[in-house]
Amino acid sequence: MRFDVISIFPEYLAPLELSLIGKARQDGLVQLTVHDLRDFTHDRHRTVDDTPYGGGAGMVMKPEPWAQALESLKPGTETLEAGQPVLVVPSPAGEVFTQAIAEELAAEEHLVFACGRYEGIDERVLEWAAQNYRVRPMSLGDYVLNGGEVAVLAMVEAVARLLPGVVGNPESLIEESHQDGLLEYPVYTKPSDWRDNQVPEVLLSGNHAKIARFRRDEQLRRTAVRRPDLIAQLSVAELNKADLGL
Ligand code: ADE
Repeated sequence: MRFDVISIFPEYLAPLELSLIGKARQDGLVQLTVHDLRDFTHDRHRTVDDTPYGGGAGMVMKPEPWAQALESLKPGTETLEAGQPVLVVPSPAGEVFTQAIAEELAAEEHLVFACGRYEGIDERVLEWAAQNYRVRPMSLGDYVLNGGEVAVLAMVEAVARLLPGVVGNPESLIEESHQDGLLEYPVYTKPSDWRDNQVPEVLLSGNHAKIARFRRDEQLRRTAVRRPDLIAQLSVAELNKADLGL
């Protein structure tokens, strides 16, 4: 799968050379290229921003460097069979990024990430880019970051780890938070008695049915306490009889 990231701070994306994603790049499972937006400017100061029309605080990213950067990445007609690439634009004004969206994006061939800074990118760029890309403004959550780079680190990691071969043991993808609409159950390791704190006894019992029930109950309990919004989204079909105490 191909990833391209456009940023005025390419060094910000250096962590994507580490750990599982770094290894996936070395192994050729992931082709990830970071591009410096300033390479698409043509003035002495390599200017990427200007003052906002209508007034207000801060600066806005100029459209032309973005247009040239996006034109340089758009596929030729011969490779368009895979469909238009997705252009992810991190923004606190975007749709909230979820595990379901990570799964959707992991099924794509080519993702381009456009990291805005300052007050954002001139809105016309997103409208214009829709000719060649499926544009998806995407927010990590209801808080404001200084730019899109940190959001891209999170989104690329969430997507790339779903690709075959990136995470060594694919089973670890199955029982984790958000996979079944619930938070994951708590985990413990040795020693079983640590500073007078005991591992829940059922986990030492060897009784697999009881362990599965304990874990499922802990998932439901945690989710109800920490994320009642997720419980409200569950359909009855996603709950089994034992969940309901029947
Ligand atoms: N850029 C600034 N804040 C952001 C957020 N919450 N999510 C994604 N991109 C952002």
